[in-house]
Amino acid sequence: MDKIVIRGGARLAGEVTISGAKNAALPVIVSSLLAGGWNTYRNIPNLVDIKTTKRLLLGFGAKVEEGETLRIDTGSLTSCEAPYDLVRTMRASILVLGPLVARMGKARVSLPGGCAIGARPVNLHLKALTAMGAHIELNNGYVEATAPRLSGATIYFDIVTVTGTENIMMAATLARGRTVLENAAREPEVTNLAQVLNDMGARISGAGTDVITIDGVEELHPVEAVVIPDRVEAGTFMIAAAMTGGDVVLRQCEPRHLDAVIHTLQEAGVGIIPVEGGLRVVGPPDITSINVKTIPYPGFPTDLQAQMIACMSVARGISVVTETVFENRFMHVYELMRMGADIVIEGPSAIIKGVPKLRGAPVMATDLRASASLVIAGLIAEGTTELSRVYHIDRGYERIEEKLSRLGADIRRVKV
Ligand code: UD1
Repeated sequence: MDKIVIRGGARLAGEVTISGAKNAALPVIVSSLLAGGWNTYRNIPNLVDIKTTKRLLLGFGAKVEEGETLRIDTGSLTSCEAPYDLVRTMRASILVLGPLVARMGKARVSLPGGCAIGARPVNLHLKALTAMGAHIELNNGYVEATAPRLSGATIYFDIVTVTGTENIMMAATLARGRTVLENAAREPEVTNLAQVLNDMGARISGAGTDVITIDGVEELHPVEAVVIPDRVEAGTFMIAAAMTGGDVVLRQCEPRHLDAVIHTLQEAGVGIIPVEGGLRVVGPPDITSINVKTIPYPGFPTDLQAQMIACMSVARGISVVTETVFENRFMHVYELMRMGADIVIEGPSAIIKGVPKLRGAPVMATDLRASASLVIAGLIAEGTTELSRVYHIDRGYERIEEKLSRLGADIRRVKV
């Protein structure tokens, strides 16, 4: 199993190109299940979660071709089952449920189970499909859903759910009649998916607001689609640049999707300047401590909470970072404390007293974004940090060690 070894102290400088968004690419690729024929996708990041999605689709009988673009044809599906072995490695596999029921009339998808950042149930996905007329049974750890044809319904999500909104939006494109999603997720990834579905012939309006209306159509057609830039990868590089007092230009990022992150970092004293096709981030000599609360989009993203805690751990003063999206998403805090961070957890908040420096240590990642926070902590720590369980970071960051190393970091991947 690989390790990432970092010798801290380098100031990041130069340019980095942001990859396509994992969280947009996953539902976009899955939307190929809604129409036979060759779909073509651009700006797909090369990540383990994308490979897992391709394996899921191949398992259903889809044809997949890879080159400069990703091409998928789901014209002759032979199976509607998403097996436990794949689903357990990627919770977002649940996204296949809606499209399969909508197009094939049935689906058997393993329940994802718990995960390192909380219970993360899929009850809202199931409740919405039931409201649309699907018959759902839970058997042997699998969700078994059938519906000759889904019917439109008004669905109120009592918690904002990103993949829940995407799943039901996809299902509703082929349902009979109108579906209205209330308290829908407003994330740019949802809007990207809605655009792709509309290009396939769907009739969706309101994506990007909290009420999405979908008028079902008889069939969709294949599409050529582009995935938006990864705002979480961009935010991670912004925080890393800020923490190291660096000067980094992010290319191919979408500043409009980063409003909350830009404002938060500016408040912490970071210089952020729009440049052609991206942003320039200039780290201050000292980061100012600030309070941050994660909130569904357009709020500060939970997927940057761990990185922000790493940043605040060396800020001047005391800061409070509050997690409102997931319970139990603080596992990285205990690893950061092993590097010398001074943090107390109180309920949903981390109270962080900035220290002058962190010290390198062997650390272990528990989830994807936690690993990113430990990598950036390693960048400013004195001495060497060794991050194990690198497979977590490979799920969501494309060649992170190469990109950081090109910015001047002393970081390498080691085969153990
Ligand atoms: C997506 C993102 C993930 C991000 C998260 C929140 C993808 C592939 N993943 O995850 O990176 O951290 O949004 O921005 O896009 N919930 C329920 N019942 C449900 C569904 C969700 O109670 O049926 C709860 C969850 O436990 C959580 C909250 O709703 O507390 C938000 O979760 P959700 O938005 O669904 O996260 P994901 O879509 O899984």
